[in-house]
Order: sequence, then C-alpha cells, then structure tokens
Amino acid sequence: MNKITLKSPVDMHLHLRQGDMLNNIAHLSAKYFANAVIMPNTVPAIADLDALDIYKQDIIKSFKFDNMTPMMSLFFRNYSEAELIKAKDKIFGIKLYPQGATTNSDSGVDNLDEAETTFKIMEELQIPLLVHGEQADDFVLDREKNFLPVYEHLAKKYPKLKISMEHITTAKALELLDRYENLLATVTLQHLSITLDDVAGGLFNPHLFCKPIAKRPEDRDALLNAALSAHPKLMFGSDSAPHPRSSKECCGCAAGVFSAPIALAYLVDIFDKNNSLQNLQAFISDNAVKNYGFKLLNKEITLEKKDFIIPNQYSDVVPFMAGNTINWSYV
Ligand code: NCD
Ligand code: ZN
Repeated sequence: MNKITLKSPVDMHLHLRQGDMLNNIAHLSAKYFANAVIMPNTVPAIADLDALDIYKQDIIKSFKFDNMTPMMSLFFRNYSEAELIKAKDKIFGIKLYPQGATTNSDSGVDNLDEAETTFKIMEELQIPLLVHGEQADDFVLDREKNFLPVYEHLAKKYPKLKISMEHITTAKALELLDRYENLLATVTLQHLSITLDDVAGGLFNPHLFCKPIAKRPEDRDALLNAALSAHPKLMFGSDSAPHPRSSKECCGCAAGVFSAPIALAYLVDIFDKNNSLQNLQAFISDNAVKNYGFKLLNKEITLEKKDFIIPNQYSDVVPFMAGNTINWSYV
C-alpha cells in the first residue's frame, strides 16, 4: 500500500500548555487530530469549571486553520457531588497525578484513601478516571510496576468506574489491563518505539526524556505487539508534552516528549514496517470511540509512502526524532 487515509484520528492524552506555547503548538494537533483529551496540569492546574471553561476557550482560539474537539479533563482533587454533577457534561474525565510524579504535579494526590468519596461519585456519574500510574519516590524503573496494585485495588473496588492507565510502559501493565474489564490504557509513540537505551544508553538525549521513562526492550516489544494487533482496550495517547528547547537542553531537563505533529506519520511508518497497517485505524480512533462512546469530529488525514525528514524544530520545541527520516509523509 502506498497511500492510507485515517479517519478522525484521536489523541487520548495531550498537553497543550498556556500562553505563547499554546498559541504556537496547539494548531499542530488540530491539523492532524479530530479530537484530543486535554491534560489539566497547567499552572495553576485546571481544578474547577471556571478555569476549565476559560482554558477550553483559549484552546479553541489558538487553532489557526483547522478545528479539533478538545475533550477536557479536570485535575483530580476531592470534588463534591454537586460539583461533579455540574462538570459531567463538560469533561471527558478527571486526571489523577500522584503528588510529585511528573511536571506540575505538586498539588497531586498524596493519600489515595482520602480520595475514595470522589471515586465513588465518579463511578456513580460514569466519569472516567485517568491516572498517571507511577509511585512517585520509588526507583525510577519500578515506579509503574509498583503502582499496578493501586490500579488493581481501584479496579476491584469500583467495578463500574472506567479507569485509564495513562501512557503505560511495561509488559506487566498490559497483563493487568487484560485482567479487569474496567481498566483501559493509552500508550505513546515513544513507548512503542524506544527503550531506555535510546534515552541514556549512549550520550543522553533530553528530547527522549519523559515520565514514565522508557523501559526495557521486552516492554517496548509487548506494547508494540499489542498496538499492532489492535488490542481493543489500548488506545493512542501521544502524551505530546512540549517544553521550550532551553528547558530540555540544560541541567535539570524537563520531562516530556513532543510528538503531536509527527505522530501519525511515524505510526503509519511503524505499522507499515510491521505489516499491520490494517489495524492502525482501530488503534488511532475506533478503539477509543468503542470504549468511551464520544462524538468524533469529521476529519480525514491522508499519508503517502514518501520520505519525510522530521523537522528540527517547531517554534522553539524540538520534536521526537528531529532530523530523522521516516518513509511516510502527510499529503
Ligand atoms: C508531562 C508534561 O510535561 O506535562 N511530562 C511527561 O514527561 N510526560 C506530564 C506527564 O504526562 O507526565
Ligand atoms: Zn502526560
């Protein structure tokens, strides 16, 4: 096949930031994606409906030529039933960050037991819980693995609550995904294609540094095989997380990989190289709609088999695999 048209691609996990960064990069998602779940770890975090309404308007204003449906999320805190009843129609879900686990998560949750009432209300109202699943202070390679019992506890205790294990990075997380009906998962482009060796095995590459950090080859391979075979509970979430070049190429490098404008081309390249193009539509859109039942914006993105050199920079942000050539380009 030399051409492929993807129908209404969805990014199930996207950071759009605020201010100049928002205005410089959000249109790059709108160009290629129909819908996207917008992360709330702004400064300050999006933790009430007034802030959410303003942020949504800012996002829509920042699109230049194309439209995209932002599916908003609230930053997890203890919400009252009245607050959540009001929020239900305005949000896709609520994103839980363990305190200190990643960028702008200082106001995250430090004691999950205190969050139980909110989980219960979310379950009743059918508001999905999106989780950054890492045990914040554990050894970096074990943070996701050590969080899996928390997912298991929540999945059992709230069987009607949809829980999305965000940006999974391990084979163990995939095993858990298959054990509980109410668990779903997203996976990023970088975790399907790189390992810790690409980040830090040779000279350190700050543009591949993100949370959770890329893991072992067998983890990457398990995730890739699940995506290639259109695992019905696994969905694409780019976790595209732009930071200015100066915050990446420095001591104290910020965590986050920026992939929004190149992700679809790169995914087509990977699926093609693994003879699995027929399963990309499910991974990039259909699974998400089946799992959550939301309305898609109509959009078609066509790609052709033609070399594409990934740009060195978009505005002041360096994308995933900058300067590398892949074999598929946007038409
Ligand atoms: C994200 C960011 O920069 O906001 N960083 C990252 O490394 N993935 C936050 C997150 O999703 O963890
Ligand atoms: Zn993220």
